[in-house]
Amino acid sequence: MSINKVSFLSELDASTFKNLQGYTSLAVIVDENTKRDCYPLVSSLLPEHILIEVVSGEENKTLDTCQHIWQELTNAGFDRKAAVLDLGGGVIGDMGGFCASTYKRGIDFWQMPTTLLSQVDASVGGKLGIDFGKLKNHIGVFNIPDMVLIYPEFINTLPPNELRSGFAEVIKHCLIADAKHWNTVSKKPLKEQDLATIIPHSINIKDGVVTSDPTEKGMRKILNFGHTAGHAIESYLLDIPGRKLLHGEAIAVGMIAEAYLSTKFTGLKESELKEIQEYILSVYGKVEIKESDLEHLYAYLLQDKKNTGKKLSFSLLSGIGTCTYDQFIEWSDIEEAYKYYMSL
Ligand SMILES: NC(=O)c1ccc[n+]([C@@H]2O[C@H](COP(=O)([O-])OP(=O)(O)OC[C@H]3O[C@@H](n4cnc5c(N)ncnc54)[C@H](O)[C@@H]3O)[C@@H](O)[C@H]2O)c1
Ligand SMILES: [Zn+2]
Repeated sequence: MSINKVSFLSELDASTFKNLQGYTSLAVIVDENTKRDCYPLVSSLLPEHILIEVVSGEENKTLDTCQHIWQELTNAGFDRKAAVLDLGGGVIGDMGGFCASTYKRGIDFWQMPTTLLSQVDASVGGKLGIDFGKLKNHIGVFNIPDMVLIYPEFINTLPPNELRSGFAEVIKHCLIADAKHWNTVSKKPLKEQDLATIIPHSINIKDGVVTSDPTEKGMRKILNFGHTAGHAIESYLLDIPGRKLLHGEAIAVGMIAEAYLSTKFTGLKESELKEIQEYILSVYGKVEIKESDLEHLYAYLLQDKKNTGKKLSFSLLSGIGTCTYDQFIEWSDIEEAYKYYMSL
């Protein structure tokens, strides 16, 4: 049975939020974009609430913003039977969930994710937290939301690059767990995908994986496919003017590099590698990585939480639709995988 309480909504009405009426108070957390584009779709359906607005962006996923949220809850006299509704992307969800989980030792919170990434990934599985200096998600807790409401219509106002970024997690879910769905998804460009079908499908994959291993002792690590090589690129390019990538754009590169490693170490077929790289390149294009970037990527990889000694831990495919974890790989092979990507 699933540990996540996810409800998929094709339309919204007052009954969607009926269970929020039982709380003593309700706060809805938004940023300026979700306040403009998403809040108007739900505001009249919600019970009486306060609105807490934070400034959008990963750079604001910080303790300072949490202090603002905790202060607003305190000013409004929220007690332990109050609740929070996070209406936004992964930044609002991770941070709003963290604030709710720690306010007065924890009050209930609902997630209403508004980006593709947060609908298929961040809102499911209970990882909550904030960044600490340059360290992403360094401070946080595991806590499953009391409800996750998925309303795909929110995606209509999402900027196209954010949609494409979130789609990388859809691709990842197919590659690690569902060859049949990969065959359907990889036949169509992003603009022809039927989101109302692929979103619930993708959530089911994540839900199944995290339910089998909620605290990432083993199996949950397969969700890291593409993320070890990809995170190094994301972190490194973050500070380089004009080269910054969105999360999914970096993970797309990481998935090709790690699919290459999978052919070398875990039995992915050459033909499968070709299929994966062709589709990913057709959606994301090619990211320029230079020879001189490699030493920096090495430095970022060494900081990764998943290391043991000099070898780096990867989750690699043994075929399309099946993934292994705890594959310890040396830098020389990782470098070869980046060079493979560069040669495409
Ligand atoms: N908890 C987890 O398991 C998990 C998993 C993956 C990612 N994350 C976290 O998620 C975050 C990234 O989430 P994200 O990609 O959703 O980014 P985000 O929350 O920054 O949202 C992206 C942008 O889109 C805007 N936006 C959101 N919904 C919109 C809508 N419907 N219409 C118009 N604009 C909209 C936001 O204001 C923001 O500017 C990162 O902090 C990452 O660490 C967490
Ligand atoms: Zn990701």
